[in-house]
Amino acid sequence: MQKKTDPVIEVRGLCKRVKDATGELTILDHIDLSIEGGSSVAIVGASGSGKSTLLGLLAGLDSATSGSVRLLGQELTELSEDERAALRNGSVGFVFQSFQLMPHLTALENVTLPLELQGGITTRDAAARARGLLEQVGLGQRTRHYPKLLSGGEQQRVALARAFVTHPAILFADEPTGSLDAATGHAVIDLMFEMNRANGATLILVTHDIELARRCDTTVTIEAGRLA
Ligand SMILES: Nc1ncnc2c1ncn2[C@@H]1O[C@H](COP(=O)(O)OP(=O)(O)O)[C@@H](O)[C@H]1O
Ligand SMILES: [Mg+2]
Repeated sequence: MQKKTDPVIEVRGLCKRVKDATGELTILDHIDLSIEGGSSVAIVGASGSGKSTLLGLLAGLDSATSGSVRLLGQELTELSEDERAALRNGSVGFVFQSFQLMPHLTALENVTLPLELQGGITTRDAAARARGLLEQVGLGQRTRHYPKLLSGGEQQRVALARAFVTHPAILFADEPTGSLDAATGHAVIDLMFEMNRANGATLILVTHDIELARRCDTTVTIEAGRLA
């Protein structure tokens, strides 16, 4: 049973290596990290340093070469892909750097989908909650648009609404303000910290945005696959 004082994420000796044309490439090299529940963490570092890879491993989207990742008290390396998906679906929201919206679903349908996958909610309630989230990110007038008809910044906000709609215990976001103008960026940052305060959600954000990093409780810097 997960206690409130336990870290939501505990990483030990995490390594990620991939085969490439020249042999083996080490992307992450013995990462140790502990993240307290309800805190906000900014992951910063140069392009190519391994930030997105680390985020994917922490969220259970990818599997490590070696080392351990405990997410909400569960050892991810001991779970099957289906078990990891079930754990994610109940407790994790993820905003991808490339958004990854479903192209054949409208904005509203994209945001409703995680609620439908979770179950236990009527179609009408799911749609109402999704609509509320889209309004919060300033897209109340875009609910019927398909992703290809939305700008990059608008797609980013749909992706955020989709990540938040289940009220996840942990929100992972990969450069969440990367394609937003300053005003929208502020609104999205405010929304994330509102979730952090109101729901006790842990925020784990990869960012180049100095304002965003400054607002987080802690900053973790990666240099060439190692924690600085
Ligand atoms: N599946 C993969 N195969 C080969 N190289 C990869 C793979 N994933 C990431 N890399 C490489 O690992 C490094 C770190 O990538 P990434 O985690 O995306 O960095 P960041 O998000 O910090 O820009 C980069 O050099 C990238 O090209
Ligand atoms: Mg990246």
